[in-house]
Amino acid sequence: MAKSSTQFICQSCGAAHPKWSGKCDACGAWNTLTEEAISAVPKGMKPGKSKGLEVATLADYAQAPPRIATGLAELDGVLGGGLVTDSAILLGGDPGIGKSTLLLQACASIASKGHAVLYVSGEESLAQIQLRAARLGLSKAPLTLAAATNVRDILSAVDKADAPSVLVIDSIQTMFVDSLDSAPGTVAQVRTSAHELIRAAKKRGFALLLVGHVTKDGQIAGPRVLEHMVDTVLYFEGDRGHDYRILRAVKNRFGATDEIGVFQMGDAGLAEVKNPSALFLHERSTAVSGAAVFAGMEGTRPLLVEIQALVSPSGMSTPRRATVGFDSARLSMILAVLEARAGMRFSDKEVFLNVAGGMRIQEPAADVAASMALISALLDKPIPTTTVAFGEIGLTGEVRPVSREQARLKEAAALGFTRSVIPPSKGTYAGAQNVAHVDALVRLMLEA
Ligand code: TYD
Ligand code: MG
Repeated sequence: MAKSSTQFICQSCGAAHPKWSGKCDACGAWNTLTEEAISAVPKGMKPGKSKGLEVATLADYAQAPPRIATGLAELDGVLGGGLVTDSAILLGGDPGIGKSTLLLQACASIASKGHAVLYVSGEESLAQIQLRAARLGLSKAPLTLAAATNVRDILSAVDKADAPSVLVIDSIQTMFVDSLDSAPGTVAQVRTSAHELIRAAKKRGFALLLVGHVTKDGQIAGPRVLEHMVDTVLYFEGDRGHDYRILRAVKNRFGATDEIGVFQMGDAGLAEVKNPSALFLHERSTAVSGAAVFAGMEGTRPLLVEIQALVSPSGMSTPRRATVGFDSARLSMILAVLEARAGMRFSDKEVFLNVAGGMRIQEPAADVAASMALISALLDKPIPTTTVAFGEIGLTGEVRPVSREQARLKEAAALGFTRSVIPPSKGTYAGAQNVAHVDALVRLMLEA
């Protein structure tokens, strides 16, 4: 049988299959297999001389890696203090979320501080970028632009001794290496293009920023394979109905991954939001039942968000449970605990739980605030607007302490909250009520 010259590559996980099929066996994604040419794979190493292996001990480390501050404090915070030179950063996000705007603003600021910056766009023409820069008031920034998609052309400009300090590739899906037959955007092209660019970045010591579009189901299109090749993966998130955007690190070899940066998209581009709590709470009106404020933490930063619950009678044998911005398994657990340990009956009700403003909560510390919103909705009893809450709930109904209670309460006090519902604590805080069990939480809410 003649050897096939093509194979089918899953655009989601990069697995190779000899035959087309509707579903990728490796990652389970549907309709992600596309035909790509098999690139010549060497049969093994050719005999040759090695230069020897350079080894080191753990103690030989140099000081912290040099960084270039972007001047956007929110971005620098997420990066862990600025762009690390000779590192590769992937910025993922939905199309239209503001990735190009963010990077253009960051590059303009870096260039204004005297660093050489090259911004390569494979999506927009030079005129489009110039127009955007003019609208953002950045026309004077001394940064270099190029509209290119061929990696060979880009390397010719950066793989040399006087390489720029920062190279932006917007986006990696539009880039191609001319020695491959596959179309731009395929896994083979994305992987090879990224590999060539990253190699140049490590060799020439510049910071490489790759923009990657995310597909509908939240994967960086094709190149999930990219995530392990780069040093840092940032996601830019937000929802269409709101004008703020959240920048999150999901991988960072040079910093923490739980820091977030908050921006607001306006006429003058992305503005940094210094006090996100005020932003997430600004839509709050008077006390209504089903709303509770959670004093959360995002990394080292306290963040107050409103949790809203709606509980309505259901005729169905399995009533609906729906969440926005909250883990649905966590909601099921909280409902079961409230039902079993505090006698609150939700099993014949439809339950909706929503984190206001499109924010996403991942901390178990939100259990108490979520419970309060649910109980408040069930009893139709509003929680005073001056109250915040936090605490984790266990399966026995106990309320457990969470980290950083002081920072959470300080942020709440700064925003005018005078009462709090918190787990048992060694510290004493003004206006704080400690609850040790969901039963006590329900009693507290019935008395209020
Ligand atoms: P863009 O940075 O092009 O998104 P991406 O590169 O992630 O695809 O952002 C495009 C959106 O941002 C577009 O819908 C318009 C909006 N926008 C503003 O609201 N104000 C601005 O000043 C700019 C530049 C963009
Ligand atoms: Mg763009």
